[in-house]
Amino acid sequence: MQKQKILIIGSGGREHAIGWKVSQSPRAGEIYFAPGNAGTTKIGTNIAIKATEIDKLIEFVKREKIDLTLALPDDPLALGIVDAFRTENLRIFGPTKSAAQLEYSKAFSKNFMKKHNLPTARFKVFTNFDEAIRYTDMETLPIVIKASGLALGKGVIIAQTRKEVHLALEDILVKKVFGEAGNEVVIEEFLTGPEISTHAFSDGINFSLFPTSQDHKKIGENDEGLNTGGMGTIAPLPFVSSELYEDIKNKIVAETLKGMESDGNIFEGILYPGLMLTTAGPKILEYNARFGDPETQTYMRLLETDLLDIVDACIDHKLSDVKVKWKDMSACTIILASGGYPGNYEKGKIISGIPEAEQMPNIVVFHAGTKMEEVEDSEHGRMENLVTNGGRVLGVSAIGENLSVALATAYEAVKKINFEGMYYRKDIGKKALEL
Ligand code: AMP
Ligand code: GLY
Repeated sequence: MQKQKILIIGSGGREHAIGWKVSQSPRAGEIYFAPGNAGTTKIGTNIAIKATEIDKLIEFVKREKIDLTLALPDDPLALGIVDAFRTENLRIFGPTKSAAQLEYSKAFSKNFMKKHNLPTARFKVFTNFDEAIRYTDMETLPIVIKASGLALGKGVIIAQTRKEVHLALEDILVKKVFGEAGNEVVIEEFLTGPEISTHAFSDGINFSLFPTSQDHKKIGENDEGLNTGGMGTIAPLPFVSSELYEDIKNKIVAETLKGMESDGNIFEGILYPGLMLTTAGPKILEYNARFGDPETQTYMRLLETDLLDIVDACIDHKLSDVKVKWKDMSACTIILASGGYPGNYEKGKIISGIPEAEQMPNIVVFHAGTKMEEVEDSEHGRMENLVTNGGRVLGVSAIGENLSVALATAYEAVKKINFEGMYYRKDIGKKALEL
């Protein structure tokens, strides 16, 4: 069997989880991570190139004769890494720059949804502050104000008062606190209901929908406090009926990919719509054009099929030849974060207990903000410590026969891990079990 040399771009828990899964493929040869983290060094080789240094990545891929590249974060996709690789005849999985607009331009994605009659919040796009204010004056509160471009998850403001509307529009359009990401704003109707994540593998025409999942984006329990990259995920969701799942598949995912195709902008890669389940049915809050994080840490625990078979089939437009299978189990991930995240936090705290946690059945610990640090010790000489190196540090993932069992297992494993200031939410999956 021909082994493939693989490059995985990114440095988070998502990248560790994809590497973990890919490494189980009989076709996986050497795996490289750019730039990776301390966890990914157990699977492959980290190289010191950032996800956005596309020219350097191309040079590396040519030099090392990499067979397949997986570009996982949003920014290289928005920079057109897929187009750049294809121009050089290099094999890469992901959407083109034009197709990735579904994620990096909210103005593009909202106009796309309107054109193709996809269910989403009512909205208008503005570039001018006075016109935006005049529009919001006629609308009821709360109202949602979004910088159109990529803003590290901080570009969405739910304004409760006219004053907050004014401040948000001034920050984005006048003070440009999000830079060019705020050249346009999307102002939209406030929706309510449970929020869920869906993902689909797409070869442009055919697609395969993942089980549904749910992230927990707020830092605090009971969904209070600041937004984060995500503090924990569960899948599949016990409260999503098979009818609702079919609706999401047929009315949202299939229609989105059909719309992209008919616009001459076919979408290959991972389509990840974030949905709100309103009383009027599921509505699209946003599209992402990539694997979610921490969703992927949970999903990879459930995926049975060889990920390389699926990715290769997507690139070759043959996804209909592959049967994508998921374990008939539940999975969850609890994120262990640095104290202070998503605000300021300290780095370099020694992490202990991961081997003990991973000795438990059904547990895998994925790394995000971690690194190995060399220290001089008078007793032991030079030694290496595993230390914290980011806001989200580790993802403790578990599988179980149902969601309660998976969650109980994950929280047992969390108890074995420690670093100074370690913070995690104790209520991941709680609401889903109560719904
Ligand atoms: P987005 O980046 O568009 O997904 O927005 C970030 C978060 O803001 C979402 O996860 C929701 O919690 C919230 N949000 C976005 N749009 C709306 C909306 N129209 N109504 C209510 N909440 C929203
Ligand atoms: N889990 C949120 C994201 O990946 O955007």
